[in-house]
Amino acid sequence: MSERKPRVLVTREVFDETLDYLRRHCEVVENQKDVPYAPEALAVALADCEGLMCALTDKVDAELLAHAPQLKAVANIAVGYNNIDVPACTARGVMATNTPGVLDDSTADLAWALMLGTARRITEVERRIRAGEWTGWRLKQWLGIDVHHATLGIVGMGRIGQAIARRALGFDMKVVYHNRKRIAPELERKCNAAYLSLDELLSQSDFVVLQVPYTPDTHHLIGAAQLKKMKPSAILINSTRGGVVDDAALVAALTDGTIRGAGLDVYENEPKLHPDFLKLDNVVLAPHIGSSTEATRKAMAMLAAQNLVDALQGRTPPNLVNPDVRK
Ligand code: DGY
Repeated sequence: MSERKPRVLVTREVFDETLDYLRRHCEVVENQKDVPYAPEALAVALADCEGLMCALTDKVDAELLAHAPQLKAVANIAVGYNNIDVPACTARGVMATNTPGVLDDSTADLAWALMLGTARRITEVERRIRAGEWTGWRLKQWLGIDVHHATLGIVGMGRIGQAIARRALGFDMKVVYHNRKRIAPELERKCNAAYLSLDELLSQSDFVVLQVPYTPDTHHLIGAAQLKKMKPSAILINSTRGGVVDDAALVAALTDGTIRGAGLDVYENEPKLHPDFLKLDNVVLAPHIGSSTEATRKAMAMLAAQNLVDALQGRTPPNLVNPDVRK
């Protein structure tokens, strides 16, 4: 007699190989049409499931958990998990997992793409070429700023922050960082990075890259007051989470020249953008694609699936974010 497989809900489209793996171990309710669940529909779909594989577009809170009495594990296909109420999961005995590690390099690459793109005005000049505005070479044409030999300030020096710093070695940059805790001296040496307070970093950096998780402590970490501390020639890069930056304050700072430019992959209230971003030429906009390469998204989905199967088979998943749940 074959063993009963646990029922799991996969809220968004995933790769075939992810579904194949999950189906070997679970009864899978999939959503390959990728129609996002409204909160009420998610509660209905989850009612008889033991596992949930979800994305940052799904809110997993106490109310949802109350509708899912069988639920044992939630596997987020993301390293950030601010969409999940972790204490509520722990209180309900539900394991929660994320996908750290596999996306570090792709996300660091994207932060660099935003830095280079903003410094050299790539999306603006591309728009101008397409609009027929390029009539020939001129000495002072669409001047950008240099990335090489500039000062890079990284706020949040976890794995992704360190990957961003290591890439700066090839650009002969001075690297400074701010983090809740200073990183180990050997890591500082590897990244060639010096620790500064946030205010010192903001006032000294030519590029400020944000790589902190979004929590109540980091909500609007960068607002009008912090933007004023930056150099008028500086560029802000947010490739971490919307809400870390006060978007209205950033629009004002980009409009009145408080800072030179910004490169953004994330926004408050995604996918809605502050409408004024669309009017500004000094901001490069990307649609939350930091980890979006084929290899990395496949690795993230597979890691989430493995976390889920481990949890449902009674093992401690490698990326458990609420270890207290096992006590
Ligand atoms: C993450 O892993 O947190 C990314 O933002 C998902 O795309």
